[in-house]
This record gives sequence, C-alpha cells and structure tokens, in this order.
Amino acid sequence: MAKKPTGKNTSGRGLRDLTVKVKTARGRRLSSTRWLQRQLNDPYVQRAKAEGYRGRAAFKIMEIDDKYRFLVPGARVVDLGCAPGGWLQVAVPRVNALGEKSGKKVGTILGIDLQEVESVAGCDIYQLDFMDEGADDQVKEWLGGGADVVMSDMAASSSGHKQTDHLRIISLCEAAAYFAFDVLDEGGTFVAKVLAGGAEGELQKLLKQKFTKVANFKPPSSRSDSSEKFVVAQGFRGRT
Ligand SMILES: C[S@@+](CC[C@H](N)C(=O)[O-])C[C@H]1O[C@@H](n2cnc3c(N)ncnc32)[C@H](O)[C@@H]1O
Repeated sequence: MAKKPTGKNTSGRGLRDLTVKVKTARGRRLSSTRWLQRQLNDPYVQRAKAEGYRGRAAFKIMEIDDKYRFLVPGARVVDLGCAPGGWLQVAVPRVNALGEKSGKKVGTILGIDLQEVESVAGCDIYQLDFMDEGADDQVKEWLGGGADVVMSDMAASSSGHKQTDHLRIISLCEAAAYFAFDVLDEGGTFVAKVLAGGAEGELQKLLKQKFTKVANFKPPSSRSDSSEKFVVAQGFRGRT
C-alpha cells in the first residue's frame, strides 16, 4: 500500500544517488530513451513514489505554498487541470480538508480536469473543461460560493515548436486568470504555470491590476532545463 503523503520536507535531498543508464532499444526513439533515463534518475520522481504522491508535480505546489502560504486550514481551493492528483494530495492536509486538525477550520478542495481522475480523499473531482460556457458558475455552485485559491498546473498539448507552445500556455493561463476573476472571493490567490519567453508581459499587467501582489517563482523541483515558472497573484481586489 502506498504511504500516506506527509506534505513535509520539500528539499529532495538525501536520496539515492545512483545514476541509471538506459540503453537505446530498437523501436524506441532517442527522445523517449532520454525521457526514461531522466525519470529513472530524477530524485523527485523517486521521492514521489516513496511518499505516495501521484507525481513529482506535488513538490512544486509544496515549495510554492511553503513560500507564499495560501493553502491554509479552511481555504476553499479550486485546482484546474488536477490529473493525476498530486497537487490535490498536497492540498488536503494543508487546508485540513479531512478535518484531522482539531480546532482548525476545515477546507474544501475541488479538482477539475478533462481527464478522469482517481478519487482523492477529501476532494471533489469533476471531469470538465474549465473553458466550457458556464464552468465558472458551475464551480461556484459546487463550492457553495466563491473560492480562496484558484491554482493551475495546466499544460497545453505540445506542438514541439517552442514559441507556439509558449503562446498556447500563456493563452491557457490567461483563460485560467479570467476564470479566477469570476470565481475568487476578495483577498484570494491565483497560482498558475507559465513558460518564460516573452509573451507573459500582458498577463502580468492584467494580474497586477486585479491583485495587490504578483510574484514569479521557479520552485527548486522545477527542472532547470524547463522554461516553466509559476505566477503567484495574491490579494484579489474583487469584482468591480
Ligand atoms: C501537468 S497536468 C497537472 C498535474 C497535476 N497538477 C498534479 O499534480 O497531478 C495538466 C493537466 O491539465 C489538464 N487540462 C489541460 N487543459 C484543460 C482544460 N481546458 N480543462 C481542464 N483540464 C485541462 C490536462 O488534462 C492535464 O491533466
């Protein structure tokens, strides 16, 4: 049985340091061989497996929240693009979704994805495209009101062309931001993955109008050869 996620120690240090070499096999593309080699040698992949998380992405939200502290007991959280569920697993103890921390407020977590997601105790998960007409109202209905946190680790499918992919993820992120403007309550937080590379300036400008604080952060667990980073916008000014 997988161990219960602890949500602690986000360093990734102290792990086995034996490099696994993967031989190229007939029929396997070089890029797949490289991916496999990287996975087998990635301490975060090994740690996710050992600690029962559904993916290495779990460490990114831990590190982001360790710095910005928005997953607090009682928070109402919407996780856009939540499959396979690593971010949900991290959020559960932090917002006290299972009510295990006595005397602390109990949080609510709602996950959404295009794909079916295996259930996570303490979360309500729906298969939905967040860009569907009325998805924001539907989410508020499910939540029974507004949210304190809208977080997104969504990635648009890759075209293999760096600039096209960058523009795709920025527009996905922009759509997620407009979704957050409809769903967040005043004071709320929006966290989203973006790719560094030029076109994110407009998004930053928009977020600065809507939130009192906007920061960009690359968590240590984000691969150094990836241009991904996370925008963390806090203090939603509310709908005017
Ligand atoms: C990188 S994964 C998220 C990983 C997740 N944070 C975790 O820790 O397990 C990105 C997800 O975004 C979802 N996604 C992409 N576009 C979406 C959309 N328009 N609506 C809902 N989900 C979407 C994909 O199906 C995919 O499962």
